[in-house]
Amino acid sequence: MPPTTQELAAFCKKKGFIYPSSEIYGGMAGFYDYGHLGTKLKHNFENLWRKYFLGLNDNYFEIDAATIMPEKVFEASGHLKNFIDPLVKCSKCDYHERADHLLARILNKRFEGLAPGEYTKLIQKNKIHCPQCKSALQPVSIHSLMFPVQLGTGAQTAYPRGETAQSAFVNFKLQYELQRKKLPLGLAIIGKAYRNEISPRNFVLRQREFTQAELQIFFNPATINEHPDFQSIKDVKLRTLLVEDRSKNKVVERTAQELLKAGLPKFYVYHLAKIQEFYLAQLRIPAEKFRLYQLNDQEKAFYNKYHFDLEIDLQEHGFTEVGGLHYRTDHDLSGHQKISKQNMEVMEEGSTQRFIPHVLELSFGVDRHLYALLDLAYHDDKQRGNVVLKLPAQLAPFYAAVFPLVKNKEEVAKAAEEVYKSLKNSSVCFYDDGGSVGRRYARADEIGVRYCITIDFDTLNDHAVTIRDRETTKQERVLISRLADRLRELSRSF
Ligand code: GAP
Repeated sequence: MPPTTQELAAFCKKKGFIYPSSEIYGGMAGFYDYGHLGTKLKHNFENLWRKYFLGLNDNYFEIDAATIMPEKVFEASGHLKNFIDPLVKCSKCDYHERADHLLARILNKRFEGLAPGEYTKLIQKNKIHCPQCKSALQPVSIHSLMFPVQLGTGAQTAYPRGETAQSAFVNFKLQYELQRKKLPLGLAIIGKAYRNEISPRNFVLRQREFTQAELQIFFNPATINEHPDFQSIKDVKLRTLLVEDRSKNKVVERTAQELLKAGLPKFYVYHLAKIQEFYLAQLRIPAEKFRLYQLNDQEKAFYNKYHFDLEIDLQEHGFTEVGGLHYRTDHDLSGHQKISKQNMEVMEEGSTQRFIPHVLELSFGVDRHLYALLDLAYHDDKQRGNVVLKLPAQLAPFYAAVFPLVKNKEEVAKAAEEVYKSLKNSSVCFYDDGGSVGRRYARADEIGVRYCITIDFDTLNDHAVTIRDRETTKQERVLISRLADRLRELSRSF
């Protein structure tokens, strides 16, 4: 049976992946902590993301920035005015929810980007009452996702950023000068974002504090229909659900070239293809569990001209947005130029034309990806009698574990410790001598360890150990002198 969100959350806590924050005080809705295994998994995901997306161009860099920013930043970006959710409350009890979520749940359809009055009309038309006490619902109002903090003695209002993107925009001009005034320039940030969600829920899928990995690519808008590497992806079949496919609700595979004919620019389509490659080849998401979902004009974020959600099919929730590819035009830099009075224009070498660069944003919610990876990896193996976490080996917190078969036998334990010491620097591994070997295999399976290495009495004579593969439980005997090489070989075959 696939895990429910509740089961997954309980499993994550039990094993030390993720659990509610400040739990000794009862916790706080929408805030989670990452434990010793969750932190390793998160770093592995972030490192894979860094390697892949920063590798797309030598002019892409990672920066790190303050998460609390002046009010004017969000005035310029439009977040203070537009970063809002429709709020519906009960007229009698304490029920409150996002109006689009209430409607989606009851009518089984997406309802994004409508005005409060339109949501109210839909609620009335469909005779929807309070799900808790059945009383009448109040007219839908607006709720801001931005929450202010007062600095110092309270004279200055600032905001925790609602997206990492704004940190890249306020850094753009300086970084452009520092990076020898070359476009496209990529600025990536992996860091915290904050949103005052009306109803945080579904474990880490909707939190008030979460991590984003975002890459802002600043480019000359005159080059939007070009990409030097387009040839390499032109025939790649992309798993798309365009606005025109909505009625059939079916993914259609379209080549990158076909998407150009559908009116999308080359620069945009190239990145759709690279993103899909990241999911299928790096994260090892099964193709049928991934799709690129095009948003219509009403659903697009207020700053976007083109907007696709990156979606993964989750066991309990179906296809769920975990990221997005956003063509933000010059929306943000123009806004910052206007409010900060700093000139955001650039002039490329050999040209006399000044322009404000446009931005293509690759946006990923780290926590939602971790949820998806755990959700897809979780297998309740009835035969083994334990959960097997089938995480890709490059993401799992540990690649290998070393077990002495008989822990009290000094010579075996000594040989096992030596094996562990020899592997420790080349493989991410741990040593476990607690309980029966069956229990140790089960514990290793549950946290996604790909290979368990067992040292037994025979090792003392044949200088060989047993490698057991998490996926198949098959075992192979390998000389200790070949062990590190064999583990490397195995990792290359993934
Ligand atoms: N900079 C663009 C941006 O922030 P977004 O669609 O609002 O776009 C990007 O957010 C990603 O951040 C989402 O696809 C999701 O994975 C993650 N995200 C957004 N709100 C979240 C929340 N409340 N809790 C957890 N993750 C969230």
